[in-house]
Amino acid sequence: MASDAPAAGGRITPAGLLRRKGGVPIVCLTAYTYPIARLLDPHVDLLLVGDSVAMVLHGHETTLGATMDMMVAHGQAVMRGSSNACVVVDMPAGSYEDSVENAVASARRIVDETGCDAVKLEGGVTMAPQIAAIVAAGIPVMGHIGLLPQSVEKEGGYKIKGRSDENIVQLHADARAVEAAGAFSVVIEGTMEPVAAALSAMLAIPTIGIGASPKCDGQILVIDDAIGLTVDRVPKFVKQYAHLRDIVADAAAAYANDVRSGAFPAPEHLFTPDKDKA
Ligand code: KIV
Repeated sequence: MASDAPAAGGRITPAGLLRRKGGVPIVCLTAYTYPIARLLDPHVDLLLVGDSVAMVLHGHETTLGATMDMMVAHGQAVMRGSSNACVVVDMPAGSYEDSVENAVASARRIVDETGCDAVKLEGGVTMAPQIAAIVAAGIPVMGHIGLLPQSVEKEGGYKIKGRSDENIVQLHADARAVEAAGAFSVVIEGTMEPVAAALSAMLAIPTIGIGASPKCDGQILVIDDAIGLTVDRVPKFVKQYAHLRDIVADAAAAYANDVRSGAFPAPEHLFTPDKDKA
């Protein structure tokens, strides 16, 4: 676990977020690029370079399209564009599940090459050894339980969790395992509200909800969903705070019109010998 002191440059640390259990809700958003990180950084506590980048920016059908190279490149961009938020980078599917050795090597590569504050991986009881090993190597870990997008093919779709007694028992075991393994916080995704609320009350580490409960210690959304850039259907749990799709489409249409009509470029956009002397 990182020290309690703010990191050089004053970023919010994983240890600082751990201390916020039960306090003012922790504000989290995903970010994948330098300009978006710069815009979000002053307003949030945590920026997640989610493996959702594979779907949102690269057009893959699922997060299984994310690669280590992709996560590192986007992690570097978000680190360059932020100085306040705690930056967490997702470990892509295939980079940690098979052994604790691979998990530690992958986490180390992400942290060494991006300088991020922590990594996130999906899974509860079955991934507890990986979480414990990465934490023992000195790298803070955020857990992720409930609906696990990296398991979507195995599960045959995005299935909301916490509907059956058996699954609720499993979720409680997963939550306890992630905490006992040393994670500094845990994302609870796509889980029935009362179950997510109970998990949050049970754990001593902060819970970050997405499609979960207002009783979680923080909330996260995928940035493109939140600002209305998402091309496909937006899930029920998303609140859209802007509709940038319409703005971008209108701007593209206006530009096309100007180019076709000859209205752009206009004299003020041109370099001319009389106005632009060396
Ligand atoms: O990849 C991602 O964006 C995530 C969030 C949905 C929590 O894991």
